[in-house]
Parts: sequence; C-alpha cells; structure tokens
Amino acid sequence: MLKDRYGNPASTNSQAALDKYNEALDLIRLYRGDPIAALDAALAEDPDFGGAWAARAGLLVQQTDKAYEEETAKSLRAGSAANLNDRERAHLKAAQDWAEGRYHDGTARLARIAQENPRDLLALQYAHVGCFFLGLQSELRDWPLQAMRAFKPGEDGYSYIQGMAAFGLEECGDYARADIYGRQAVEADPRDGWAVHAVAHVNEMRGDLGAGIPWLADNAQHWAPESGFAYHNWWHLALLYLDRGDVGQVLKLYDEKVRPNPDSQVILEGVDASALLWRLHLEGVEVGDRFEALAAAWQRAGEDAIYAFNDLHAIMAFLGAGRGADAERTLKAMRGAIARGGDNGYMTRKVGLPLAEAFVAFEAGRYGEAVEKIAATRGVAQRFGGSHAQRDILTLTALHAALRGGFANTAEAFAAERLAHKPQSPWAGRLSRQARELSAKARAA
Ligand SMILES: [Fe+2]
Repeated sequence: MLKDRYGNPASTNSQAALDKYNEALDLIRLYRGDPIAALDAALAEDPDFGGAWAARAGLLVQQTDKAYEEETAKSLRAGSAANLNDRERAHLKAAQDWAEGRYHDGTARLARIAQENPRDLLALQYAHVGCFFLGLQSELRDWPLQAMRAFKPGEDGYSYIQGMAAFGLEECGDYARADIYGRQAVEADPRDGWAVHAVAHVNEMRGDLGAGIPWLADNAQHWAPESGFAYHNWWHLALLYLDRGDVGQVLKLYDEKVRPNPDSQVILEGVDASALLWRLHLEGVEVGDRFEALAAAWQRAGEDAIYAFNDLHAIMAFLGAGRGADAERTLKAMRGAIARGGDNGYMTRKVGLPLAEAFVAFEAGRYGEAVEKIAATRGVAQRFGGSHAQRDILTLTALHAALRGGFANTAEAFAAERLAHKPQSPWAGRLSRQARELSAKARAA
C-alpha cells in the first residue's frame, strides 16, 4: 500500500499519481502555485485515486465562491465512484458538507479525521481554514496543538503545524507563544506564508510597527513569489503603513500588491481590497476610481450570499463606489440566505446583516444607527469568521461614526479601548486625540 508524504495510506497503486499528489500537498500547505493543476496531474495518472478527488473538492469548497460549484460537484461525483479508504471517504464527506452549506459539520468532520489520523496534515489544514471561516478561535489553536504529538521537531510537516498553531495562539491572545512558534516555522521554511502571517498578526494586534513593517517588508522575497496568499500578507503590511499615517505607501501597496489585477474576481482578494479601501474611506482619504473598479469586480458574486463575511465586504465596495442599488441587492440576497437557514443563514442573521445595515447607515450619514448596530453585534461578530485584525473594521467604523455623529463619549470609549490594546500605535493615538477634541468641543458648547 502506498503512503503519502506524511505516511497516510493512499488509495492508489500509481507511484506517479502519488508523486503528483504529494506535490499538491506541498503547494496546498504553502498556499503556492496551482495545487488544482497538481491534483489534476495526479488524477490523470490514476482517475480512481479517490483521495485526490477528495482533496480537490476540499480545496474548492474553501474558496467560499459559488463559481467553483460545478467543479466541486464534479470532484464529489468522481470521488464517490473512485477508490477510497475510510479516511479519504471522510474527507469527501466533509467537502460534501461544505458544498451543501453545512460548514460546521464539515469542519468538525475534518478535525475528527485529524484527531484519529494526526499525520493527516491536509485534514488539519482544511479544519484550520474551516475554523477561520467560522471564527472558532480556540479550535484554531487546539487542533494544531493536538497534531504536534505525531511529529518530531525538524521532521517534514512539523514547522507547518507550528505555523497553524501560531495563528490560533494569536487569535486566542497568546502573543508570546504565537510569536515563538511562528518565527520557528518561518526559520524552518521561509516560504511558509501562513507562518509569516501569524507573526504579522501578532505585530498587528500589538500595534508594533517597529517589528511589523520589517518583518513583512524585508522577508517578502521568500514568502511572496508564487504565493497565492501573498496579497493578504501585503494587506497586513498596508495596515501597518496606514497605522503610521503613510497613505502614499498604502495606495502603492494596494495598486501593486494587494490589487495588482483590478479585475480579479477571486473572492478572498476582493475581501482584502474592500477592507483596505474602506479603512481609507473612513480616514477621509481620496481613493480615486479604485472603489468603482472593485465594485465592478464584486458584481458577479454580489448576490451569491453563501458566506456573510464576503457579503459585507461586497457591500463596502458598493457603498464606496456610490452603487447604492448594488448594496441593496446584496442586502436582499442576505435576507434570502437567512430565509434558507443553515450555517450561513445563522451567520447572516446574527452578524452579517446587522453589520451590513450598519455600514449602509454609516454611508447614508445615519451615524447613530451605525453605532448602535455595530455596538450590538461586535461581541458576537467572530461567529461570521475572519480574524481579529479583519473584524477591527467594525470598531473603526463605529468609532468614525461616533466621531462624525458627535457622540463624544462613545468615540472616547472606543478610542480608549484601542489605545489600551495598542499603546504604541500612532493610529490609536490619532483617533484618541480626535475623540478627546470632540469631547472638549462638546463641553465647550
Ligand atoms: Fe490576516
């Protein structure tokens, strides 16, 4: 029986297929190159290699993009008719869960595969990504920590688990251990963009520009080339420049690194682009026609409503571009998602829709409504996924709504919170000053 690079039995007798599959595992773990092409090459060698079909389906469903529906269905169909061992069958079922909107079931199934097969790093990574989309913070940390038992330091795969654990530790506020694990993982493999990213999050949460900017800027030659994830690390670098008040650098990074192809319809890229432009918009920065180009790219997925986190980011682009009718269409699609139920229905009802309405209210100048809706939702917002750094856009929007609406105490409260978390952050300092000036004006009136 053949085994994959980590020692998991694989349902193929073709060494050539397995070699291609192992290559895909490497690309998937590093978010590099084209793992679908590598899986297709494995399947060209052995079309009955069910594990490769399951990996393909699993990768496609986690793009959170309806555009891959057909390819996913094809993989699920072919996989179920191919050779599968029990572990691979569970992978296929997890992808089926995701494809049918049962994101929690699919993620739990993947985590169980990883518990029972601690050397199945594909299951671990897919579970990790699932936890990210669902905001399962302690699981982001704990599933990788569980899997570490099966690997020795220095062994193929070990540092990759450290990178995942580092991100989970960071999301749980354990910055010191996150920093250690993340840096060790990057030292072991400087191409590991996810581990680079975990340390970037530590620096972001601490508001530590002195450590954060060189961490990303000076090592990019290792993690950026061929990375399908680089745009997100560049986004993190842009956030740090924005913190420093260097808007020129932010726009340059947006144009050259975060959004080099303004027509790209890759959803995860669109999310970061929206999140960056909206922050600039809040800060009153003129972004030219960038919102318009981004809104045009969001057009295709604006009514898909399969993941509330994406929908909110589509709405940001539509609002920024002054496309109120498109924002309304997305809101309508979100209400449809609530009616359909399921995991996304829940996320949309509890988090996505109230936030989307808050952002619409902000843009319409109804600042009180924006503050109320964000303040009421922020505490449960992790339930629609993303990271603390991404969801910071909620607090920023509420804070700017309070500043613009003249709600001095609210603005001071949010600003004080920010400064307490990020005492070194120039941005936190600026917002705090703005809030204090508003309070002084209110007292003088
Ligand atoms: Fe991130």
